Amino acid sequence: MIPDKAPKEDVFHAAGGLRKDAHVPSFETYKELYTKSVDSPDEFWGDVVKDFFWKTKHAGRFLDYNFDVTKGEIFIKCMEGATTNICYNVLDRNVHERKLGEKIAFYWEGNEPGDDLTITYKELLHQVCKFANVLKSQGVKKGDRVSIYMPMVIELVVAMLACARIGAVHSIVFAGYSAESLCERILDSQCTLLITADGFYRGDKLINLKLIADDALQKCRDKSFSVLRCIMLKHLCKDEGASAGSQSPPAKRSCPDMQEKQKDRVKKGHPLPKVPWNPEVDVCWHTLMDGASEDCEPEWCESEDPLFILYTSGSTGKPKGVMHTVSGYMLYTALTFKLVFDYQPGDVYWCTADIGWITGHSYITYGPLANGATCVLFEGLPTYPDVSRMWEIVDKYHVTKFYTAPTAIRLLMKYGTEPVHKYKRDSLKVLGTVGEPINPEAWQWYYNVVGDKRCPVVDTFWQTETGGHVLTPLPAATPMKPGSATFPFFGVIPAILNESGEELEGPSEGYLVFKQPWPGMMRTVYGNHDRFETTYFKKFPGFYVTGDGCRRDKDGYYWITGRIDDMLNVSGHLLSTAEVESALVEHEAVAEAAVVGRPHPVKGESLYCFVTLNDGVSYNKALEAQLKQQVREKIGAIATPDYIQNAPGLPKTRSGKIMRRVLRKIASNERDLGDISTLADSSVVEQLFENRCCAAV
Ligand code: WTA
Repeated sequence: MIPDKAPKEDVFHAAGGLRKDAHVPSFETYKELYTKSVDSPDEFWGDVVKDFFWKTKHAGRFLDYNFDVTKGEIFIKCMEGATTNICYNVLDRNVHERKLGEKIAFYWEGNEPGDDLTITYKELLHQVCKFANVLKSQGVKKGDRVSIYMPMVIELVVAMLACARIGAVHSIVFAGYSAESLCERILDSQCTLLITADGFYRGDKLINLKLIADDALQKCRDKSFSVLRCIMLKHLCKDEGASAGSQSPPAKRSCPDMQEKQKDRVKKGHPLPKVPWNPEVDVCWHTLMDGASEDCEPEWCESEDPLFILYTSGSTGKPKGVMHTVSGYMLYTALTFKLVFDYQPGDVYWCTADIGWITGHSYITYGPLANGATCVLFEGLPTYPDVSRMWEIVDKYHVTKFYTAPTAIRLLMKYGTEPVHKYKRDSLKVLGTVGEPINPEAWQWYYNVVGDKRCPVVDTFWQTETGGHVLTPLPAATPMKPGSATFPFFGVIPAILNESGEELEGPSEGYLVFKQPWPGMMRTVYGNHDRFETTYFKKFPGFYVTGDGCRRDKDGYYWITGRIDDMLNVSGHLLSTAEVESALVEHEAVAEAAVVGRPHPVKGESLYCFVTLNDGVSYNKALEAQLKQQVREKIGAIATPDYIQNAPGLPKTRSGKIMRRVLRKIASNERDLGDISTLADSSVVEQLFENRCCAAV
């Protein structure tokens, strides 16, 4: 299924220099290793296992699983019987065994140019051990869930690794989510502790994070659940505590002090966050850290102990707590990072994702640290203070491997080449993308303009559920086709099925599925194993169903065509239509809502919402603004609708099912509706076309 020889036409090849020292230097080597990974997985992964520290070794098969619902419960187990600690492997092992203690783990670059910090592996280990002791002092034990709601600061990495060190399960909630979303996630995972910060800036916009976190905690209380403690990092507030109130302890960053820079920020007229303080629940990060010991023996965890939960949108509207476990995730993120970015010891690697998403978990924290890499951790935006910011940072730190999202590339493309050419970017060697299909035009711009035609582009397809890359080029080995995620990573066996579940051979298009697990795939939906089986394994027994459509071309290359379930991908973030619809119908004016995606030149897809109002309510701009605000409050700014259309009637089948296929066509003004014979009342369609929202909002 993978061709013996790589195609020679219509492809881009890596430059010879990159091939010389590459881990996988040619297509032939890729093919050989791939065959070994599927024919002899124990041998293949055995070589990877040797790089890590195991307190006790595993006995038996490397992977044990059942992928077929008709044969019993779905399960995936990797290295059963082994014990280890992922925090030990990504920190202590690097400091003590690999002598990387003085190496920089992170260059932190703040929202404001000039705000920066560095932290070495040794310093990071000390911070993590101290914070692990802080967690213990707050009563956190192995298996307990801890919610983390923080901006992109080094302390976010400290918090997650400290959880991993003591065997607690972190549940990171992206700091752009609303109080309601945070509350829902805390309740679902029954977290007893929340870690947050006072606030942060996104560009010139202040986010009052503690205020939102408090709102979430109140919502939890209203639903009879109390978080016992909330640890707050002072990221912005300085000593005087500004609005923090008399109960609030003095600020001192555990990392080198930023107070001078903070003073500048205040001078420039940037306000400080509002920090409500409840002494019964709130505790200060810095005060706790001051008294904490630097000695903390790691908790030796079983391979299949949970490592973290990360929520991702579900088609019912209720987010799913995707659960990953220790050993398999560690091996998989470490190996994919090493091979997909062709990591070499002198590299400076930068992934622009937020740690609140899976990309940040796997390819800012765990994968890079497992390899002893130096990473850039960026708090800000690609367009602040100007649209050259990314390239300025690339030059400042001599970034060699750079990983971002197609939506960011399309956004920057709009400003032309000049902001890119202002900086040299000659350190760059490999470019990567993730999160959504990349259109060939954006790919070409990334390759030609950003990478000066020197750097291979690795288009990595994967999901929160897959833990790490599953379809991806290897930069020196795989000839690239712009827009294709190319071939499977080691141990991954993709297939394309038709609607009846038959496997298609050769060039074809259909459902993308996987035939067997790999070490890093999810193990369950937290607290709901039935939902795990139903969502991913019921439709086509024997396969893991990704929910994405896919085409395979004559050369065997895989091309992701986008979601084929009720999911939307806005700027690389997955949202379910049901989630947005339920936020809309909660408004008293709305009787019914239907949400579809409409193609958008920068975001990939934008949210187009049809709302049917209750009798007697009239549609106007004020109501439209309220509805948008409602969705922001319920879910977060990422879900803000771009278009809302008043829809007195919706196209429905005779059995009352909304025909979204028709709504999608209306949203993008495509008159060719296909077969609409099942439509109960076809006059609504014409009415909807007439009242379309045309202008971008
Ligand atoms: C989409 C992000 C095409 C896809 C790591 C997938 C992609 C969903 C690509 C997962 C890519 C991600 N090409 N589509 N290279 N990467 N996707 O869980 O629809 O936030 O199912 O994980 O993003 O999004 P998630």
